[in-house]
Amino acid sequence: MRNFCHNLLLLGLCISLASASQIKYSTVTGFFLQDLNTTNTTTFDYSTQNLGLINQAYDSDKDCPNVNKLTQWQKFEYQLAQLNHKSSKNIEYKLLYLGRHGEGWHNAAETFYGTPAWNCYWAELDGNASASWVDAKLTANGIAQAQKAHNFWANAISVQRIPTPNKFYTSPLSRCLATANITFTGLNLPKKKKFVPVVKEYLREGMSIHTCNWRSNKTYIQNTYPGFKVESGFSEFDNLWNGVTSETSTAQDLRSKALLDDIFSSEKGSYHSCTSHSGEVASLLRVLGHIPFSLSTGAIIPVLVKAEILSGSALATSATWTASAHCTVPPVTSISNGACVCPSSAAPVTTPLVLEQPTVSPSFTFVASTKAF
Ligand SMILES: *[C@@H]1O[C@H](CO)[C@@H](O)[C@H](O)[C@H]1NC(C)=O
Ligand SMILES: *[C@@H]1O[C@H](CO)[C@@H](O)[C@H](O)[C@H]1NC(C)=O
Ligand SMILES: *[C@@H]1O[C@H](CO)[C@@H](O)[C@H](O)[C@H]1NC(C)=O
Ligand SMILES: *[C@@H]1O[C@H](CO)[C@@H](O)[C@H](O)[C@H]1NC(C)=O
Ligand SMILES: *[C@@H]1O[C@H](CO)[C@@H](O)[C@H](O)[C@H]1NC(C)=O
Repeated sequence: MRNFCHNLLLLGLCISLASASQIKYSTVTGFFLQDLNTTNTTTFDYSTQNLGLINQAYDSDKDCPNVNKLTQWQKFEYQLAQLNHKSSKNIEYKLLYLGRHGEGWHNAAETFYGTPAWNCYWAELDGNASASWVDAKLTANGIAQAQKAHNFWANAISVQRIPTPNKFYTSPLSRCLATANITFTGLNLPKKKKFVPVVKEYLREGMSIHTCNWRSNKTYIQNTYPGFKVESGFSEFDNLWNGVTSETSTAQDLRSKALLDDIFSSEKGSYHSCTSHSGEVASLLRVLGHIPFSLSTGAIIPVLVKAEILSGSALATSATWTASAHCTVPPVTSISNGACVCPSSAAPVTTPLVLEQPTVSPSFTFVASTKAF
């Protein structure tokens, strides 16, 4: 079903053969500091806080062998296993490690030009005279943030005994491929859980008209990262970015739900890593019923997810994208609502500013795939 869906996506359409069941997601709170609305997202540093794992006793401690010799993460691993062991067959718990890529050239440019001018003009170009941001690469700062994540994992594995991911997923955009590579290469991973990341189309950033979100071709991705796998059905060229219409948050959440359905119905392990983007992690958090928690570049958030198969099909399965206007020359000024003013000679237009014209995809329908867990 997944492949079928993916091939149809090339036509901008995906038709459901759906059985009348759906997966409902929720976040299990009480384990991580990021679940609390008192945690300051600006100052919170996952790397000095054991990823946010709260030091506490769990219900399962009393049954856990040698509990006094275990780290908090080992006790958590036992607790999660017990949750799955004791739950009914239609329920599954998994821990997702959601990471944001390190700083890319587009992040640096947004700071440099200011957000309104970036959104309404510069982001629609493929770069400026000295920097490129089409499928943006990491800056030196972004590489350092990915190395910080690597150092965090190395210590968390050797000292805290954190459960390592069963699967490593990444967005196909260059900044995430590089971040995942730097973060997870060279870690002391168990033999059965080696770093063989899978590139997932649906983990990409919200599909805005910004060229930083226009991905490179599959051949380039495979040649640059020979150890990565691309998921089946992954197209050679980017069929989703079109430079004219943007995914609405409703459409993005449907995509995020389809991604979660795919992972939860195809992967047995309880720990998975996703390397993605600020907007896409925000969408995943909405679908998972987590409170908003904005990630700075390079940050990671763990989410304990409860997935439940319910009978009855999901209501909404499709959402259209909307066109966004932008200036054809640099804007004169910014206005308070975050928009900007084009010079009188340049009315806002709705065609791409880049020369190469991508395929236009009008709207999407997503399938909830619900094999038993
Ligand atoms: C924080 O969460 C508590 C309950 O968990 C709620 O009562 C409170 O209103 C929330 N505060 C904010 C600022 O959202
Ligand atoms: C979070 O911390 C920043 C930096 O110290 C501060 O400016 C901001 O007001 C804090 N936010 C909240 C909600 O406390
Ligand atoms: C281009 O943008 C980068 C930020 O990505 C900035 O550092 C640089 O100064 C800009 N170059 C020019 C020529 O404006
Ligand atoms: C694929 O992408 C690479 C890197 O951007 C480019 O050099 C190459 O020409 C592209 N291949 C095709 C067939 O367009
Ligand atoms: C990570 O990047 C390096 C250098 O670009 C490359 O040689 C290596 O093959 C990549 N790792 C994987 C798993 O593809």
